Amino acid sequence: MKNANTHPIIAAIQSRIFLILIKFNPIRTYFLMSGLIIRHIALMNYTFGNPNLYLNRETLWKKMFQTVDKKKGFRGVEFGVAWGYLTNYWLNRYEEHIESWHGYDRFLGLPSEFMSHKVGAFSNLGHPPKIDSPKVCWHVGDIESTLVQQ
Ligand SMILES: C[S@@+](CC[C@H](N)C(=O)[O-])C[C@H]1O[C@@H](n2cnc3c(N)ncnc32)[C@H](O)[C@@H]1O
Repeated sequence: MKNANTHPIIAAIQSRIFLILIKFNPIRTYFLMSGLIIRHIALMNYTFGNPNLYLNRETLWKKMFQTVDKKKGFRGVEFGVAWGYLTNYWLNRYEEHIESWHGYDRFLGLPSEFMSHKVGAFSNLGHPPKIDSPKVCWHVGDIESTLVQQ
């Protein structure tokens, strides 16, 4: 009977190589991240049709800003702020169009392990980043509680 599977010897070699490779943390993370990204893109395709893809988040943010009604301005809401890279990016470039900016974070880092990131990764020792703008409002604490306090 013909077997459509890969030849058993090839399959054994492939799985051995794979098992050796995933023992190394950076390689395992690379595969995990690639899988997550591919799964996310597939989900976006399924949900929204053919979405535009960008190689980095800064390019995506520039595109997002192009969709803003410059006369009306907008309110920014950020879930997970960490050290404020994204907040700074938007305020430095587009502050005049921002009506208010709401950053939600516990500032103690991740509450549970995620991929290669340990509990507490991205911690800012419980403090919001020093970003000097009257438009910024920090909501410090677990999002599960701070969001329902609104
Ligand atoms: C990857 S960082 C955010 C990076 C940030 N947006 C940037 O672009 O620089 C994830 C953040 O989510 C926060 N976080 C994760 N789970 C949270 C929760 N349940 N409540 C509040 N903050 C949480 C962590 O404290 C961490 O600062």
